[in-house]
Order: sequence, then C-alpha cells, then structure tokens
Amino acid sequence: MKVLVIGSGAREHAICWKIAQSPRVKKIFALPGNAGMAKIAQCSDIKDNDIEKITDFAEKNNIDLAIVGPEAPLASGIVDKFNHKKLRIFGPDAKTAKLESSKVFAKEALTRFRIPTAEYKVFDGVRQAKEHISKRPAPMVIKADGLAQGKGVFVCKSRQEALDAVKIIMADKKFGPAGERIIIEDCLEGEEASVIIMSDGRHFVNLASSQDHKRIYDNDKGPNTGGMGAYSPAPVIDDALNDIINKKIIKPIIFGLNEENTPFKGTLYAGLMITRDGPYVLEFNVRFGDPETQAILPRLKTDLMDAVEASIDGNIEKVKLEWDKRPCVCVVCASKGYPGDYKKGIPIYGLDEAESVKDTVVFHAGTKLEADTILTNGGRVLGVTALGEGIKGAIDKAYDACSKINFEGMYYRKDIGHRALAWEESL
Ligand code: AMP
Ligand code: GLY
Repeated sequence: MKVLVIGSGAREHAICWKIAQSPRVKKIFALPGNAGMAKIAQCSDIKDNDIEKITDFAEKNNIDLAIVGPEAPLASGIVDKFNHKKLRIFGPDAKTAKLESSKVFAKEALTRFRIPTAEYKVFDGVRQAKEHISKRPAPMVIKADGLAQGKGVFVCKSRQEALDAVKIIMADKKFGPAGERIIIEDCLEGEEASVIIMSDGRHFVNLASSQDHKRIYDNDKGPNTGGMGAYSPAPVIDDALNDIINKKIIKPIIFGLNEENTPFKGTLYAGLMITRDGPYVLEFNVRFGDPETQAILPRLKTDLMDAVEASIDGNIEKVKLEWDKRPCVCVVCASKGYPGDYKKGIPIYGLDEAESVKDTVVFHAGTKLEADTILTNGGRVLGVTALGEGIKGAIDKAYDACSKINFEGMYYRKDIGHRALAWEESL
C-alpha cells in the first residue's frame, strides 16, 4: 500500500515512523514533511493546506490512502474532496471537523448531548461581551470561536484581563475572522488530560491516555506554546475514570453525531479538565494531538493501519489495540525565542548519538536537510522520545538523549513528566 501523510511536524513524523513498521505499507509519501520524515518517506514541497495540489498529487502517485496530521486541511474539507474523487482518506469531513474549527459548534454539540462542559455564553459584539463581563465574577475564560493555532484562549483572573482579551480578539482582530464570535465561559479547576479515540462513525477505540505541557517554562509558567512535551499514560486517568470518560463524553458525542446523520470518522481528541465533579470537556480536536502522539505511538504494539483502515471501512469495533506497559516521554526541543520570534537554519548536532540510546527516537518537527546537514526550520524543532521502566526511567532516558543533541539556542523544559512523577511517588 502507498500511504500519503499530510503535515510536517513531529506528530506526522511519529505517524510515518509507526506506519513504516506496518507490513502492509510499502511506500510513504509526505507533504511537505521534514528532514526526519525524509528518511522514511518521499517528501514533496506542497503545503499541507493546499488541498487542490494535494489531491492532484494523490491521484498522480496512485496513493492508496491518506492520513491528515493538522486541523487546517480537515477544516477546509480535504476529506470531502478526497471522498468526492473516490480517494481513501482517514479523518473527519469538514462538517464534523467543526468540532475543532468552531468552538461554538463544539459547545452546542456538548450541550445537545448533555456532556459536561463549562457554562458559557456566545457573543458577536464587543459591547455585549463587555457588558456580560461587568456583570459576572472573575475568573473566566475568553475563547475565539475559530482556529487560532492554540492561541485564541485566554484564562482571565480579573475582569480587566477579560476586557483586554475581548479587545485583542474582537477589536484588534488578532485572529482575523476566527475572532468574529467569542465564548465567555466559567473557569474550571482541576488537572488537565487528553483522551484520544479513533472512530468509524459508529464505534471507537481508545488510544492510551496522555498529558501535554502547554507552557514554555518549567512549572507551567510563561506563555502557551504548541506543546513542550508529553507523556503517556496519564496516571490521573485510571481505568475507572477512563470508563466514566467513555460513558459521559466519548459515547454521547460519537453516538449522538451518528444519530444526527453526521457521523464522526477519524481521530477525536478530547481536552479534559478532571475536576472534583468529574471530567469536563475543554475542547475537541479532530486529529491526533501534538506532542501527545509522539508519546502514544511508541507504546502502540498493534499496527496503526488496522485502526486507520477500520475507521474508513466502518468496522473499528473489531480492532483491539495492544499497548506496551512502559511509559513514554517526549521532550520538545525548541528554538531560542519560541513561542515568539526565532532564527531558522541553525545546524543540529548529535542526532545519531541521541537515537543510539535504546528505546529512544527523535521525532523531527521544524527541521530541513541542506547540503547533508540537518538545520532548524521552525519553533519546535525536535521531539526527543523514550520508553522507560516507570515514568522516572522514561524521563531520565529522554533527557539523556536530549543532552547528546545541541544546536545554538536549543531550549527545552527540564520538568516534563513532573505530574506523572508526583503521582508515581504518591502511590
Ligand atoms: P482550549 O484550546 O479550549 O483547550 O484551551 C486552551 C487551554 O486553556 C486549555 O488547555 C486549558 O489550560 C485552558 N482552558 C480552556 N478552557 C478552560 C476552562 N473553562 N477553565 C479553565 N481553563 C481552561
Ligand atoms: N497538544 C494539544 C493539541 O494537539 O492541540
């Protein structure tokens, strides 16, 4: 089978790395890919949201199946386009991808299916939003409705912060049309975790649980990023809680959408707050998480293509995913200045040495190959990932591998896995 992977991050590298192990997959193409993916896939310089060119590429190269990494092409209807051309593709159509591309759409679905989520109100004008803020207590959370690369959410401790957020989103239009509507919702307290499932529209399989580290600095300080590291499993989600999450959140959304004749096919990621009253949905993503996927897939013993094909073919209830019991930790190495401005084109050293550590794999994000040298090419550059005995073992191994890599200005958090470690130590 010839498989096309769309995207260029460490998540897409992890997907390529995993499906390259499938006996069914004979060749992998990646659009546009990166220097790490180029080792296992044939990369071509087509942007991941250029749906026309991607479709042409898939037709010309007789691709048997495509897997989409990022949300933008899903929101723009890449799956609809492929289906129209009778090309096989894994992921949701544009209609159900709105669970991620419109927070209002997601909130309405959550409400319809009685899934726990924070109380909220929707506004499309600055004046009404400000009036609402003046009447309600802080803290509160202000969210741009549309896609804003994870930057459209403001957790506001005071009314003033909330007013500032409204100005940024609605008056300054920082996120363009994505900020034409906003949600103002209650602030939830608890521990965050990600639950990711794969569905064929009627049934689903759970991937292993995981946890992200969104802030740039240690101890969850500083601005939000695309994710500075992850680990799997997330000890906060034990088997009992997983059952509750499936019952109260995953089943209602998957079965509910199917009953409304808009079945969700693909990967559904529920960003949760585990509160004292149980799990609440903060957001849905309609794709694999990044960097969660980098920590999840090395633990998956089953062929990922089993679930991908079953999702498309509508028989995912037959798939049973087997997991390596060992925890996996992914530490993201970023360029100096990220998530603000940063330089590109800096040579990266020590990659082979890092990967020589057993059960370690370095997933590339923003990298490119030039004259036989691997250079930085983005804010998040690498996802250094290791399986280990216990969470401490995995953390130590990932950091050992990080210590062998260097590029000018390389930055990584030193505390990835701290929550899991605290859980382990408290047992
Ligand atoms: P979202 O993109 O909606 O997941 O929001 C990004 C981040 O904002 C989440 O990972 C949480 O850390 C935080 N967040 C979002 N909604 C809430 C909420 N209702 N209460 C507390 N924190 C939230
Ligand atoms: N890790 C957060 C996301 O994938 O959106």
